[in-house]
Amino acid sequence: MERLQKVIARAGVASRRKAEELIKQGQVKVNGKIVTELGLKVSPSDQVEVNEIPIEKEEPVYFLLYKPRGVISSVHDEKGRKVVTDFFPGVEERIYPIGRLDYDTSGLLLLTNDGEFANLLMHPRSEIEKVYVAKIKGIPLKENLRKLEKGIRLEDGKTAPAKVKLLSVDKKKHTAIVEITIHEGRNRQVRRMFEAIGHEVMKLKRERYGFLTLDGLKAGEARELSPHEVKQFRALALESK
Ligand code: URA
Repeated sequence: MERLQKVIARAGVASRRKAEELIKQGQVKVNGKIVTELGLKVSPSDQVEVNEIPIEKEEPVYFLLYKPRGVISSVHDEKGRKVVTDFFPGVEERIYPIGRLDYDTSGLLLLTNDGEFANLLMHPRSEIEKVYVAKIKGIPLKENLRKLEKGIRLEDGKTAPAKVKLLSVDKKKHTAIVEITIHEGRNRQVRRMFEAIGHEVMKLKRERYGFLTLDGLKAGEARELSPHEVKQFRALALESK
């Protein structure tokens, strides 16, 4: 027997939190009856429907995508722009991205249909390192990079300490390449951190997520995670939670 919201999340319909909302909103039926309480436990023989559609108990799948720039981190875009799931034409499971990279950001993005896994990784307390490489306008002062390291005040609060490395400087073009490692995942966080010290981010790429890198992949390419990597990742998220 498992909790209803967990069963819905595992079927790839929605994240666990979203599934709870669907239940509260009366959009979920068990054996033909609307259920609005969250604690209900169901067995594999129970018929679960979300908006009248029976959920399919999909096998969980996990992918790593090298997201190119100019792609939306979503499963659908109303304006018809390219979305990350367009890179998985042969995958029948209902996968969705774990978190987001901005439209203009490239790099490592995980996708899954396992709502529980997605929630675990996105939990604010799961402090998984994300390494970004930013090309910025201007040449940053050491003391300003130090501010990013210590944590800087943004409109949604001070950022957690970060690791910052100045990789190179182009004096002629007046640009610099900086590597920054954070574990939070606020909206446009890296761009806003650099803006806060007076530098516009011209290009941004996520190069590492936990122990996962883009090794062997070109932009637009994806690979499946091995069962071992999934296990390791789950352990990493739980350990930091
Ligand atoms: N920080 C940003 O500013 N953008 C991203 O896409 C990811 C992190």
